[in-house]
Amino acid sequence: MHRHLRTDSTMERARERLAAGDPHGTVVIAEYQSAGRGRGADRSWAAKPGSSLLFTVLLRLETFASRSTPPPRFGLTPLVVGLAVAEVVEAWTAEPVRLKWPNDVYLRDRKLAGVLCQHRENAILAGVGINCNQRAFPPELERRAIALREARGGAVARYRLLGDILARLRAHLEREERFGPAMLAAVNERLYMRGCEVSFRSPEGEVLGGTVVEADGDGRLVLERGSGERHRYISGEILSGRP
Ligand code: BTN
Repeated sequence: MHRHLRTDSTMERARERLAAGDPHGTVVIAEYQSAGRGRGADRSWAAKPGSSLLFTVLLRLETFASRSTPPPRFGLTPLVVGLAVAEVVEAWTAEPVRLKWPNDVYLRDRKLAGVLCQHRENAILAGVGINCNQRAFPPELERRAIALREARGGAVARYRLLGDILARLRAHLEREERFGPAMLAAVNERLYMRGCEVSFRSPEGEVLGGTVVEADGDGRLVLERGSGERHRYISGEILSGRP
């Protein structure tokens, strides 16, 4: 585990650890990031020092390949990481937590955490940012973001949260059936807006209407459109929806 009081992004530090030959399971944590990244080239992730849990886990694909089960499918990885976060937050709050495809964790209909997975060399760098102890958000995020503190009713021990999430993630990745039907079912049980009509921005930037069906075994969003035809998207964004 490598902890930085301040760095540009834990994704960069994890990339260095990967190049330096650090092992599977290496974790890089930051108390503050000056250039935290979100999913998509134009997105950043900003958090005041010490307010959030910010980390990146190095998952080496050869570690998986040496075992009997198949290696992680890249499209599913953010959902598995999100699932580990969701399960721990559910245990900590006794409240339902949702996975907003493809990489967000939602609590009380607001964004609690984001996951950013990058495929580098023979590894996946799984970055996670969780709002923990913020008492307020900037006006533009106020209605869309939530900190765990609000649901817990008090300060969050971020490193204990990290320990629980890593244990959960490890359990998922080490089980015989990882990335199998049980895990996918656990993701889909929590899928945000499942069965709801949503507007969706396709990878080409087109805004479409459709009903969220599920995430499939490759992590694609299955959207039912028009007269029942099903379309699968590897990227894109759910913009809004109603039950
Ligand atoms: C998103 O919501 O778009 C994904 C946000 C991911 C943020 C985390 S914070 C730790 C890691 N380092 C980064 O620069 N980004 C990820």
